[in-house]
Amino acid sequence: SKTLRYYAEKNGKMIGMAFCTYKGLDSDRSEAARQFNMMVAENEMKMDVLQPSQGSFSWGAADGLVSLAKNNNMTVRGHCLVWHTQQPAWLSSDGKKNDKGWTRQQALDIMKNHITTVLQHFKGKVTEWDVVNECLDDDQSIIRTNPEGYKLRPTVWQQAIGDDYIDSAFVYARRADPDIQLYLNDYDVEMQGKAKAVAFSNLVKRLQSKRIPLDGVGLQCHFSIGDVDSVKLEKTIRLFGEAGLKCIITELDMGVPSTTTANLEEQARNYRMITDIVLNNDNCPNLVVWGIKDNDSWRSNSNPLLYNSGLGKKKAWYAVRSALRHR
Ligand code: G3I
Repeated sequence: SKTLRYYAEKNGKMIGMAFCTYKGLDSDRSEAARQFNMMVAENEMKMDVLQPSQGSFSWGAADGLVSLAKNNNMTVRGHCLVWHTQQPAWLSSDGKKNDKGWTRQQALDIMKNHITTVLQHFKGKVTEWDVVNECLDDDQSIIRTNPEGYKLRPTVWQQAIGDDYIDSAFVYARRADPDIQLYLNDYDVEMQGKAKAVAFSNLVKRLQSKRIPLDGVGLQCHFSIGDVDSVKLEKTIRLFGEAGLKCIITELDMGVPSTTTANLEEQARNYRMITDIVLNNDNCPNLVVWGIKDNDSWRSNSNPLLYNSGLGKKKAWYAVRSALRHR
């Protein structure tokens, strides 16, 4: 029977999943390659893995994932260049504090060297990157008093450089490889009406007004059943489309409180609803699910993925395929 990628390709879409080479079994690998046309490194391209000590890079794990993808005709999307989690200890003890005392210029140089080296290494192999990940503070109650309409999360980068670290990251990335697509990725920004969603669009407006090279935004979409308002989600995708940007689904998972038939059916309906939205919007070329099997998920307790722990296809899998097929 036909695969997810078969129907996705007919619709000109990418159907992807996050793969972790040190979790995956051979059976996961072959199912991933058969069913999906896009792959994201769940961990292998994060800064702590790529630059474990300052100025010395370690490509083995990431290159392994890239060749797995290449051998199976899959596109690789890069995740992620500038973040506050999974940062090397030499940069910051926790990714948040500037406790190594970097000056603005030192931090800019470190960021530039990381971005430039990584993008040159993966040139021609990775087509798009999350350049900045999760830069917004979870608490946006400041929104009324801040003239820019958003508050950034305090991270080592933000502390050492200032709020314009984001601008610099995108400029360095465009210079390092003008042929790839550059994304700003975040969570809790998916549905219009939420304070963090407003902040996200205010930030994007400011970046665009300064002509910062940004091709699109990523909506992570770590959801649980009952979370999704399809009208508000689609509104977000259209809003960014009107601003000339792509708006893609980068880390979808859909938790259930328990695996009753009713919950798994609701999970399937939610996956289907999101797949339909992707299909209906040209500025949304990618739908990426954050993992393959429930037991390997970062939210394994909520069984949020398309395959169960025995790699069996769940109702959600059939719902995604049926949405892709009936277009
Ligand atoms: O590297 C060690 C490994 O040496 C050891 O054997 C293993 C044993 O548990 O732990 C490994 O590190 C773990 C790593 O995943 C690789 O499995 C970390 O403890 C664990 O914290 C890390 O979790 C990842 C998490 O990001 C870290 O923040 C998840 O796999 C990954 O799914 C998750 O992904 C993030 C996205 O990047 C950004 N958006 C949110 C999303 C979910 O948190």
